[in-house]
Amino acid sequence: MTTTLLRPGDLVRPDAVHRSVYTDPAIFDLEMERIFGRAWLYLAHDSELPQPGDYVVRHMGTQGVILTRGKDGEVHAIFNRCSHRGSTLCAFEKGSAPAGHQCPYHGWLFNADGTLKGIPHPGGYEGALDKADLAITRVRTESYRGFIFGNLSGDKAEPLEDFLGHMKTSIDDLVDRSPTGRLEVGKYQLRHYYRANWKMTFENLNDTIHPGFAHAASVVSARAVVAEVGAQNIVPTVGMMLANGKPIDFFQNLDMVTAPGGHSYIGGHMGADYTPDTSDAYTAALVDYHGAERAKKVLSVDRHLMLLYPSSFWHARYQTIRIIRPVRHDLTEMIGYTFRLVGAPEETHVNAIEYCTGANSAASPVIADDLEIYERCLEGNGYDAREWVPMARGLHEVREAGNEATRSPSTSEIYIRNQFAAWSKYMEQPA
Ligand code: FES
Ligand SMILES: [Fe+2]
Repeated sequence: MTTTLLRPGDLVRPDAVHRSVYTDPAIFDLEMERIFGRAWLYLAHDSELPQPGDYVVRHMGTQGVILTRGKDGEVHAIFNRCSHRGSTLCAFEKGSAPAGHQCPYHGWLFNADGTLKGIPHPGGYEGALDKADLAITRVRTESYRGFIFGNLSGDKAEPLEDFLGHMKTSIDDLVDRSPTGRLEVGKYQLRHYYRANWKMTFENLNDTIHPGFAHAASVVSARAVVAEVGAQNIVPTVGMMLANGKPIDFFQNLDMVTAPGGHSYIGGHMGADYTPDTSDAYTAALVDYHGAERAKKVLSVDRHLMLLYPSSFWHARYQTIRIIRPVRHDLTEMIGYTFRLVGAPEETHVNAIEYCTGANSAASPVIADDLEIYERCLEGNGYDAREWVPMARGLHEVREAGNEATRSPSTSEIYIRNQFAAWSKYMEQPA
């Protein structure tokens, strides 16, 4: 079957998806244009750009953008591309450029908002070039509670809050955990690449069937650790490894929540009062800020990862956001950020780092299993053996359907079907 000649919508059935969506470079190119070129993508947190001139470089699909706080205090996003011969402007991930961004090739200088500030030796351009025409293309941004998102389709995109919909509650969950209402990005990022398609992570992180198999080895190790040191003395990663070994009934009873746009989350599987982030000092600080009743409510929210389709994963309990950067159809980068809940004890942030390391670093005893599986699926889906990949689990198990959100057992593959519903919608809409 020559899949690239098919319409994207023909590759998705209600209960199955064509294997080529994971293996075909032409489909990947179309995804970059139609999904990553249209959806709101999480870029950065306000605290990463505290001063005028501060910048970070991020990717939107395969395209690099620079976010800079201008002298006006506003954050501007522009393509990381000089309007002269096309060189990228910033080579560094972050820094400060209060005088503007200067191209390393011929020295053209750009303001934070992309306007061309100056050209060295301008004489030869006299009457031949209009500076106003050479501003760098700007990217539309909007923020929700300090989190900055970008959208490459500009005015055509819906407002950010409409895109987030019910998933705002998961972002609220993260911010409301701060005893000052403020978050600060952690110092370090965790990055790794895997040799498979970007969608593999979206289809895996809330898959509650695979841990008992793919992660069986670390479940055994975690149980051995508990036997040795006691359940009260384990770090969050061991807690996660342990939770991966819970019986299927537990996961069947847990809720999976899906929402329009391909987004989803599942109920927490580690327990609401499990970690030291509910320690006395932290709880006291939260009560001071929110009042007892509200603080209790904030701490009782127990969700596992929120998947914000198509590019980020949010874990409020451990103040972690992971961004996906699709590089090629068969190569993906994952970038993990942790956040400090300003005013919370240091221990809370240490737990976040520990969790992010355990869940997202290349050395994680859990994610190594997943990465191996992604690569195996890339290889297997490249075989001609069969064309369709089923995603039918839980097709008839919806607990409560709603316009804003739908509740199903967490063992359901409804979140994959929901992702492909969004996928088809983005992909079928012509340029
Ligand atoms: S390519 Fe940037 S100044 Fe020439
Ligand atoms: Fe996994």
